[in-house]
Amino acid sequence: MKKYIIPHSYQISLADRRKLNSHNSFLLWFTGLSGSGKSTVANAVEIELHKKGIRTYTLDGDNIRKGINNDLSFAPEDRTENIRRIAEIANLMIDAGTVVLAAFVSPYKKDRETIKNIVKDVNFVEVYINTSLDECENRDVKGLYKKARLGKIKNMTGISAPYEAPENPDIEIFTEKEEIDDSVKKILSKINLKLKEK
Ligand code: ADX
Repeated sequence: MKKYIIPHSYQISLADRRKLNSHNSFLLWFTGLSGSGKSTVANAVEIELHKKGIRTYTLDGDNIRKGINNDLSFAPEDRTENIRRIAEIANLMIDAGTVVLAAFVSPYKKDRETIKNIVKDVNFVEVYINTSLDECENRDVKGLYKKARLGKIKNMTGISAPYEAPENPDIEIFTEKEEIDDSVKKILSKINLKLKEK
C-alpha cells in the first residue's frame, strides 16, 4: 500500500515559514518522573518565549492521553506508541515553524532515540528534569505514588516500572536545588542561538 503513497510537493517550505516567523523551529523535550516538575518548567519557559514573540506550543502527557492517545495504557509497548505519535505530531509542528515544548515521562532510552530520529537530531533538545523519586513521592501532587504503593496503579514509573535516566542530556535541571527562574534562564541561554538559526 505504502508504495502508492506519493507525497505532493508543496511550494511553501519550512524555510519560508521560519523566515516569516523570524525564528527557528525545534523541539524541547522534557523527560523525568511523574511529579518531577516537567510541566511547570515547560510552562515557565513557554511564557518567556511567548514574551519574546516566539511561536510556541506545548504538548503534555495528561492532555495528549485524554485526546489523541486515549487508547493507550502505561504498558511498555503503549508508552512506546505514545511517544512515537507525539514525536510525529511534534515533527509536523516543527515543520509548521513552531517551537514545540513536550513534557512526557518518556522513561525508555530507545523511545527517546526514536523521537530524535523522527524530528532529526538537529531539531531535538533533551531536557532532563532530574528530581529524585523521594522528592516526587513526597510531593505526590496527583496522589498517584500513594496509590501505586498500595498496588492500585500498575506500571507506575519509579515504583513498578523503570525510568531510564538520560546519560547525556542537552540540559539538566535539578528542581530540588535550583529556583525555577534559574532553571528557565539556564534553558533559555542554552537555546538562545538555536532560536536564531533559520
Ligand atoms: S509516558 O511514560 O508514556 O511518557 P506520559 O508522560 O504520557 O507517560 O504520562 C504520564 C502521566 O500520566 C503522569 O504524569 C501521571 O499523571 C499519569 N500516570 C498515570 N498512570 C501512570 C503510570 N503508571 N506511570 C506513570 N505515569 C502515570
